[in-house]
Amino acid sequence: MKIVSVVGARPQFVKLAPIHKAAVAAGVEHVIVHTGQHYDPMLSDVFFEDLGIGTPDVHLGVGSGSHGVQTGAMLAALDAVFDEHRPDWVLVYGDTNSTVAAALSAVKLHIPVAHLEAGLRSFNRAMPEEHNRVMTDHAADVLLAPTQVAVEHLSTEGLAARTVLVGDVMTDVLFEVRDQVGDTRSVLLEELNLEPGGYYVATIHRAENTDDPARLAEVVAGLAGLAKPVILLAHPRLVAKAASHGIALTQGALIAHAPLAYPELIAAALSSAGVVTDSGGLQKEAFLLGVPCTTVRTETEWVETVELGWNVLANTAAEIAAGVTRPIPAPADAAPYGDGHAADRVVQALFAWQR
Ligand code: UD1
Repeated sequence: MKIVSVVGARPQFVKLAPIHKAAVAAGVEHVIVHTGQHYDPMLSDVFFEDLGIGTPDVHLGVGSGSHGVQTGAMLAALDAVFDEHRPDWVLVYGDTNSTVAAALSAVKLHIPVAHLEAGLRSFNRAMPEEHNRVMTDHAADVLLAPTQVAVEHLSTEGLAARTVLVGDVMTDVLFEVRDQVGDTRSVLLEELNLEPGGYYVATIHRAENTDDPARLAEVVAGLAGLAKPVILLAHPRLVAKAASHGIALTQGALIAHAPLAYPELIAAALSSAGVVTDSGGLQKEAFLLGVPCTTVRTETEWVETVELGWNVLANTAAEIAAGVTRPIPAPADAAPYGDGHAADRVVQALFAWQR
């Protein structure tokens, strides 16, 4: 069996790592295509190096642009790649512009498409990712769902016959990296002279929080006003938007810092007092590490983290402050994100569904 995986943005490299390992172990020919959506070394290369993925077989070098320009450039480049490789499956990941471009290109070439992390919904049609998810799910031939809630969303949309519950591959990689990190102290502790439990880790990058100056000012004020240092691992999009809005990212309790490599992020989150984020992945990582999370969004796809008490939604500065100071939740018995073996199930499902 031959699989072409298409990835382009940071969270997709994390999901690719366990898939690549499982594919190689099962004797699958696995071709990795990097669209180039993320190109800064700290958003891209370090993940390939640290997570043992090697280097991409094909790099499209598409880079940044408006949604249409970026997605269109990927579409134009992917046709030739898929046509050359003619794989049994094109595997697409998550909800970025790289995801929808690859799904659309492959389906039009009559190459079977599998969507990893299918069925997630925010029901917020202002989010670019929501359109990417819905379009990709409806284009794909097999929908690899991470959770029971995702399975139910797909069923509601008439897609049950193409759905397989596999669990969440981010659990696979997180457990492995957590065990490797062990008791290693976070690099942030020395660098910024912090105590374990004496700081928060924050990431903010979504268009809904960064693009409107008043909205970003509110979020930054909320973080700057917290009672412990807040280490803001600043995505380039946030840095660019803050500069153009004239908003300082280091002020009050807030300390802007470059993004971290994956093992360093896990170590930093593990010894923090809590995580404040608008990232989907980090909400789940915090939950799986037993670290309280405050999510700066009006809704989340990862509803289980909220239902189990480990995540709260917070939008105003006051809500963010209330979120980070809430009592530590009771340990959760439930394991809504699988057992750490989702990637093996993905490869098995692709063998089983092969035409
Ligand atoms: C993308 C995904 C988002 C995902 C996120 C993970 C879409 C629509 N969005 O958002 O779902 O959560 O990745 O990080 O696909 N930039 C750089 N260097 C880079 C990449 C981006 O400087 O390596 C800057 C550029 O100014 C660029 C901006 O960040 O215009 C936005 O990048 P883009 O890839 O469009 O979206 P993300 O915000 O990264």
